[in-house]
Amino acid sequence: MKKIVILISGRGSNMQALLEAQLPCRIAAVISNRADAGGLAIAQEHGVPTAVVAHRDYPDRAAFDAALAQTIDGFKPDFVVLAGFMRILTEDFVKHYHGRLVNIHPSLLPAYGGLDTHARALHDGVRIHGCTVHFVTPDLDHGPVIIQAAVPVLCDDTEKSLAARVLHEEHRIYPQAVRWLCSNEIRLDKHGKVLFRSRKQSGHALIFPGLE
Ligand code: GRF
Repeated sequence: MKKIVILISGRGSNMQALLEAQLPCRIAAVISNRADAGGLAIAQEHGVPTAVVAHRDYPDRAAFDAALAQTIDGFKPDFVVLAGFMRILTEDFVKHYHGRLVNIHPSLLPAYGGLDTHARALHDGVRIHGCTVHFVTPDLDHGPVIIQAAVPVLCDDTEKSLAARVLHEEHRIYPQAVRWLCSNEIRLDKHGKVLFRSRKQSGHALIFPGLE
């Protein structure tokens, strides 16, 4: 059975969705860069080992990433799953986990990489927004896409209501992506494309506002 390590920085709701999804893998550890991350207690309640590698204890990004990689590799994971991990990772770190490192981002990439995605989507007046699970490459928020979910942006949406609608879908697509990874359904090929073992073609169009 494959092993994964999950990295968090905060409340850990995506991590919780992964812990509760009965995935075909062992969750070897949850690691946080912040000792006060709420998700650590949730992981412990689920009986998952936790560790903290505090970025503030290291002089620079390279030193932190080296310590983080050493802690991760101690658990010998097949995949490293970023779930609200709020640190930009060095190229060396990302390359070390090439094809084995995935992230969830609260927008339909390549639109709205970076922070404040919901506020920016509202500001631009887009009608459809969403979330993306992707392989991580050195290019921030631009790695090969595994799965996306789209949601409507309603006229009276606030940042909070839109974030909640997107988060609900994050909790559905992340377990699916990790399930595919751990059952060898997907992999990153040598050209940096996501390959599916069997052709998954089902899905629905989201048109918003709807046609009459
Ligand atoms: C999520 O919106 C995720 O997409 C982003 O950070 C947030 C983390 O939330 N990368 P949580 O800690 O999983 O609740």
